[in-house]
Amino acid sequence: MKLANNHIFVTGGSKGIGKAIVRDCAEAGAKVSFVDIDVPAGEAFAKEMRDAGFPVAFAEADVTDFQALERAYKSLVAQFGEVTGVVNNAGVNSYADPVTMTDEEWDAFFAVDMKAIWLTAKLALPAMRIAKKGAIVIIGSIHGRLTFPNFFPYGAAKSAVLGLMKSLGVDEGKHNIRTNTVAPGYVLTPLTQGWLDAEVGRTERSLSIQPMGRMGEPHEIAKVVSFLLSDDASFVNASDWAVDGGLSARSA
Ligand SMILES: NC(=O)c1ccc[n+]([C@@H]2O[C@H](COP(=O)([O-])OP(=O)(O)OC[C@H]3O[C@@H](n4cnc5c(N)ncnc54)[C@H](O)[C@@H]3O)[C@@H](O)[C@H]2O)c1
Repeated sequence: MKLANNHIFVTGGSKGIGKAIVRDCAEAGAKVSFVDIDVPAGEAFAKEMRDAGFPVAFAEADVTDFQALERAYKSLVAQFGEVTGVVNNAGVNSYADPVTMTDEEWDAFFAVDMKAIWLTAKLALPAMRIAKKGAIVIIGSIHGRLTFPNFFPYGAAKSAVLGLMKSLGVDEGKHNIRTNTVAPGYVLTPLTQGWLDAEVGRTERSLSIQPMGRMGEPHEIAKVVSFLLSDDASFVNASDWAVDGGLSARSA
């Protein structure tokens, strides 16, 4: 029960990696709240968890809309008390062409994968500073360090996230607030499945480059996230944790 007496707030918890994080944090003893734009999936999952005896709450919010996010955040704090740990997980892929991508598309993409992380920090840091304790975990990506063709500008956002994590870690460390990123490789989620299905042979090619001969499962990311949120990681700050089965060590 390494997260007992914690309130962990997760973005994008209705599906995929975020859903596994909600489950793992609840099983580790935390009260867990999450926001998502997928309301039916979020409500159904929160109910499933509550029926199983876990204190889990869901609220609808688009992480790019600060007012909606703040409203949802406050309602979840009213339910479970101040947030002790934040997991910035909500994210989307981008397969844009640098010439045809529009201003609006660029801004909309960076609003989810980059700016929303700052917005949640803006909401969570005041109480964490008063408590002199807190943990922020950001789901980055292997694309923060290396990328592959036709994924523009996903690598730019995930690299920027590393800089944001380092700034928060360095500046907030004096308040005993730790910030770290987790960088998954290929993890089997609805997002990845859609990408794999988009081209014949992509699944086989993707598997052929995996040092461990397989892709990751969402719960394998969640276990590292819950460790970083816990006191077991009390001196881990401003660092990036690869959870990619060794893929980022493999040369083409
Ligand atoms: N799956 C992978 O292989 C992989 C690899 C590296 C990094 N990641 C990162 O992990 C995170 C989760 O990815 P996933 O594969 O679980 O994706 P997913 O699409 O399966 O789940 C993402 C969740 O976020 C929600 N979401 C999307 N936009 C939102 C918004 N504006 N506001 C609120 N919620 C929103 C979605 O509704 C969904 O429930 C993302 O940040 C992604 O970039 C995933």
